[in-house]
Amino acid sequence: MNLEESLNKIWQDAEKDFEGAENLRQLEELKIKYLGRKSYLAEFPSLLKNLSSEEKRKIGSLYNDLKTKIQNLYLKKKEILSEEKIKFDFEHPGIDIKIGHQHLISQTLDEIKNIFLQLGFSIVDYDQIVDEKENFDYLNVPPNHPARDMWDTLWVKNFKGYLFRTHTSVFQVPIFKKFGVPLKAVIFGKVFRYEATDRTHDFEFYQLDGISVSEKTNLGHLKWTVEKFFEKFFTQKVKIRFRPSYFPFVEPGLEIDISCVLCNQKGCPVCKKTGFIEVAGAGMIHNFVFKSAGIDYKKYQGYAFGFGVDRLIMIKHNIDDIRILHSSDLRFIEQF
Ligand code: DAH
Repeated sequence: MNLEESLNKIWQDAEKDFEGAENLRQLEELKIKYLGRKSYLAEFPSLLKNLSSEEKRKIGSLYNDLKTKIQNLYLKKKEILSEEKIKFDFEHPGIDIKIGHQHLISQTLDEIKNIFLQLGFSIVDYDQIVDEKENFDYLNVPPNHPARDMWDTLWVKNFKGYLFRTHTSVFQVPIFKKFGVPLKAVIFGKVFRYEATDRTHDFEFYQLDGISVSEKTNLGHLKWTVEKFFEKFFTQKVKIRFRPSYFPFVEPGLEIDISCVLCNQKGCPVCKKTGFIEVAGAGMIHNFVFKSAGIDYKKYQGYAFGFGVDRLIMIKHNIDDIRILHSSDLRFIEQF
């Protein structure tokens, strides 16, 4: 192969090599191979020594052209590869973005709201920070009355008489004042207690309170309503049991038990082998409450009830510690 042929051969190789370069690193290696200090082209001038001056000029100019052409090959390819670097690679696997979902508590609140809407109740809302008249006095719990001890209270610092509501029953008098009667309404929300926590107690939890008032509403209506509610909520037939109890804002007052939905009354740890689970407080609204709201208690009557929502969730999903329900532990949350 004479010198001219070897230059041609180098050009053919270089064209193929630069064309095939896939990234900037490979390209730099090719630049060293063809144009570097130890390359054939770098040593080429020494091969011209013995040629005639005419041949020197001819081969010399072929050599210079070739060098420029290879440099241009390099620059062009560099531009292409650099552009590609910032181009989107649509097939590159993306970062997996985790999509969350509603917490079990929110899901359940929605579920419960829908059931009460079907049962003809309006959904209302009320403040979480209230004054003690609303939380206690209007509901027949005067200052220094021992019944106040039933609710361990978190008072708001520097705002005398204000507290974090201890129960959702606080909505009763304000809602009567606002909408008058007859009325069927439910409220849901957080309540707060100054309480040490354990498996079944937290200082912050969810309650639901309902009232239904007309000229004729009676305990039979209450029984039907809670039975329908629990049957829809637990998606199975339940038996309702009323037991006499005391709450200052109802007369008569009672506890509502439902037949155990976990063991079908065969006896299990949740119902403590009794076949029944206590789920709510309730009763006929006390005349005192109607008086607080300015409602004619000789004409109107009605029932009220209150549930712990967390407790219902725990029964339904067999969760034995309320604190896990309020934690942000994804291992728990992702199960629902
Ligand atoms: N507010 C009561 C509590 O937190 C529960 C309750 C009992 C609500 C009787 C009611 C009711 O509406 O009639 O312990």
